[in-house]
Amino acid sequence: MAEVVIVESKDAAGALVAAEIAALIENRPDAVLGLATGSTPLPVYQALRGRLDGVDVSQVRGFALDEYVGLDPAHAESYRSVITREVVEPLGLDPQRIQVPNGAEATIQHAGADYEAAIAAAGGVDLQILGIGTDGHIGFNEPGSSFASRTRVKTLTEQTREDNARFFDSIDDVPRHCITQGLGTILQARHLVLLAFGEGKAQAVADAVEGPLTASLPGSAIQLHPHATVVVDEAAASKLKLADYYRYTYANKPAWQGI
Ligand code: GLP
Repeated sequence: MAEVVIVESKDAAGALVAAEIAALIENRPDAVLGLATGSTPLPVYQALRGRLDGVDVSQVRGFALDEYVGLDPAHAESYRSVITREVVEPLGLDPQRIQVPNGAEATIQHAGADYEAAIAAAGGVDLQILGIGTDGHIGFNEPGSSFASRTRVKTLTEQTREDNARFFDSIDDVPRHCITQGLGTILQARHLVLLAFGEGKAQAVADAVEGPLTASLPGSAIQLHPHATVVVDEAAASKLKLADYYRYTYANKPAWQGI
């Protein structure tokens, strides 16, 4: 089962996960980070700015989870732009070492296989940051995604397009297709860290952590992973049946174990 850590705020979550990432980079300067977009990971990236002061990040590598298909990479809401703006530039990472799936239509037929090859060539992802959609998707693996899936093109659900419309002028501007690491790809990362905040995510979190393992709730795939950490605030934890047990377990955890 995933370790669930219930924190008091987004900032506390950001500090906890940033400390883990900073320690990873200090131990392994060419660490491979799995980067997520959306609003959820932002407190982690913000906290990392302070934590990485004085740490050599010149060798750090990174792979984003997903990208829209057919959206100009220069568009402010392409995940290439978001990763550049929120992660690469503020943390001073080498842009050449940070990859995002290529959503260009002209090369889309082999973009998934190309991305898988690049991740494999890097030796796999050390720590994968994940958010979760209200319908339980991780990356852009919408309900029904195979647990064995690899990086490929998916069709976004209307729910996801509506959720993401806030980043665009209108819902009509939200692409219908995306390219996303598969659940099988994500499960190969050595450590998964899923974050969720707010009541709107409570059901998806409860289903992912405590519900049945099912492709209908892609986030439940984390139950298959030997080292998965779920960091949630009280609101996102509010539907977890075993919340008191998670609190007790974390409070009594030896400090040296980290997350
Ligand atoms: C998008 C991203 C996911 C993210 C999800 C939740 O669909 N592809 O990686 O987890 O949104 O977004 P937010 O964190 O903004 O709630």
